[in-house]
Amino acid sequence: MSIGIEINHITDYVSKNAWEENERIASEILSRLLEKEDREQVLGWRTLETSAVQLDVLKAKAEEVRNHGDVFVIVGVGGSNQAARAMIEAVAGRKGPEIIYLGNTLSPCYISHMLERMEGKSVYINVIAKNFETLEPGSHFRILRQWMKKRYSKAEMAERIILTGTPGSRLEEIAEENGYLFLQFPASVGGRYSAFSPVCLFPITAAGLDVDAFLAGVRYAMEDCRNNPATNPAVKYGAARNILYQNGYDIEMLVSFEPQYAFLTKWWVQLFGESEGKEKKGIFPAAAIYSEDLHSMGQYMQEGRRNLLETFLSVKDPKASAVIEPDREFGDAFDYLDGMDFDQINKAAEKATWEAHGDGGVPCIRLIVNEISEESFGELFYYFMAACAVSGTLMGVNPFDQEGVEEYKRSMFAALGKGKQQG
Ligand code: PA5
Repeated sequence: MSIGIEINHITDYVSKNAWEENERIASEILSRLLEKEDREQVLGWRTLETSAVQLDVLKAKAEEVRNHGDVFVIVGVGGSNQAARAMIEAVAGRKGPEIIYLGNTLSPCYISHMLERMEGKSVYINVIAKNFETLEPGSHFRILRQWMKKRYSKAEMAERIILTGTPGSRLEEIAEENGYLFLQFPASVGGRYSAFSPVCLFPITAAGLDVDAFLAGVRYAMEDCRNNPATNPAVKYGAARNILYQNGYDIEMLVSFEPQYAFLTKWWVQLFGESEGKEKKGIFPAAAIYSEDLHSMGQYMQEGRRNLLETFLSVKDPKASAVIEPDREFGDAFDYLDGMDFDQINKAAEKATWEAHGDGGVPCIRLIVNEISEESFGELFYYFMAACAVSGTLMGVNPFDQEGVEEYKRSMFAALGKGKQQG
């Protein structure tokens, strides 16, 4: 197993028997979930056959983007951009175009600033929208098309625009009408479960990440979940956070001492928040990046209400080093750090935080990743998705729908007059 899990401390907060029984049920739920027929068309993420489609096509186009693009614009919101962004912003050493994220805000300041950044550069765009009804990516596609029309011929635009949507959607028709490459957002894959589909595979490849290494990580975790239903990290983590929830711990902080994980934590917040927060149930997912957030949320974690659980995402080998050289004459009172590597200091801070929060009455879980890489992202995404499906099912909610999100959209569309000018 390459992702480790440290969980034993939770017996200070819940009974061992209840925890073990919850793990047993979680393991049965996962096995059923992995085997059952996908009648509701929501389990496409379980296998690469149903999710990782069009690999050759997307790899070829991604190579073109890397060779000819200065800027690659990823247009998508929520599940349609978070997984790719989490990886692109975290994995070091990629060789590829500058990445711009659009379709995820309605802020005119942000949009105009991004358009300015694209000026004078060779631009490719990938619009990702499952049914092409969401306002943010839809409106940004329009503004980007208009921007491109002033700079590229029709034929050049056809080379530079890639659309990712569900087969049969309006986006597919647009691709056909205009000669754009169309990539599939498989119908049986939900937005926040789309990391193993072209939704994430194409942008990460175009950005210069190793898609095969990523899929190897996914494959490893998939097999682990199938072959070791009782001991894989997804079941252990899903069952642990759930038994804590049953005992009153209804806020979970995902924390890391690696700032590169900031967008992974956003992906995780979406996955768990949108999957579990319904029917007046659900663990409230929050995230922090230490040590910066220790100087704000650290106080609450240590001494605030005791309804929090904390999941540490630890990285064994950061694959980087920064050593502090002695500077005795300067007199800054930091000589105790002489000769230390920041890895050592960061790990000391993490250990101290783990111990202090544990002593302060916060049940802590640790997930341990060897290094931040495409492969470990594949594993993490799969284990988190499986854990979320298990934990949501244990809670008695449907982890694959998001009816609540539609609520704000209805009032927003009414306010913007959607439907009045159709024709
Ligand atoms: O998980 C989900 O289904 C949502 O978060 C969607 O990913 C998000 O709302 C974007 O949807 P769409 O791709 O249809 O624009």
